[in-house]
Amino acid sequence: MSYEEAAAICEGALTALPFLRDEGNIQSEQKVLINGASGAIGTFAVQLAKYFGAEVTGVCSTQNVEMIKSLGADHVIDYTKEDFIKNGQTYDIIFDTVGKISFNECKNSLKKNGNYLTPVISASVLFQMLWTSRSNKKVKFAATGLRKTSDKVKDMRFLKGLVEAGQLKSVIDRRYPLEQAAEASWYVDEGHKKGNVILTVAS
Ligand SMILES: NC(=O)c1ccc[n+]([C@@H]2O[C@H](COP(=O)([O-])OP(=O)(O)OC[C@H]3O[C@@H](n4cnc5c(N)ncnc54)[C@H](OP(=O)(O)O)[C@@H]3O)[C@@H](O)[C@H]2O)c1
Repeated sequence: MSYEEAAAICEGALTALPFLRDEGNIQSEQKVLINGASGAIGTFAVQLAKYFGAEVTGVCSTQNVEMIKSLGADHVIDYTKEDFIKNGQTYDIIFDTVGKISFNECKNSLKKNGNYLTPVISASVLFQMLWTSRSNKKVKFAATGLRKTSDKVKDMRFLKGLVEAGQLKSVIDRRYPLEQAAEASWYVDEGHKKGNVILTVAS
């Protein structure tokens, strides 16, 4: 694995893992939907959910459908053609990695005891976390970067094992030299990168 590919693990994979495992309590054979499957968190979430034995549905736009299939997703929904909240399917976990679908919009697509996970904080997410804490469909947010260093190191070792076993790979969209960090940031802000954008600090 190159340094660029390794750098990507530290962001998306180190976020997706605690969300699926700790907040979602993901179990084998569960039905898991990843919204924003083509992003940094999403591309790793698809692969990790497959590793945990789930039946995985990835949601992305047309141009990313083949890429999400290649990461192992069992089903891919093109959000420009189909709205997953209207197709009658239900899931144990809906992980909205990009904060584009609210809990209220998708709660009917959650099974009983299902979890809606989001890494994108807002006042309504905080309110819904409290509101749903005793109900059978829960909203979960976590600031995964603020976890104890020892926990993150343990997770990095786990992820390293998956990479070495060929079960996890980084998707890299673009690389920019450090001097072009502003251009990289503008591109990321467009909201359509595929996987990761990497800043390189050495040739
Ligand atoms: N809580 C935490 O600890 C934590 C940690 C890390 C990051 N975050 C947050 O997590 C969020 C996601 O980060 P990220 O880097 O994974 O995102 P990202 O890579 O920037 O997301 C880009 C992806 O979003 C997809 N997308 C855009 N609109 C969509 C829509 N309406 N439906 C489905 N997919 C859509 C795009 O696919 P198309 O081009 O196909 O539309 C693109 O591939 C950010 O807000 C970030 O700040 C939180």
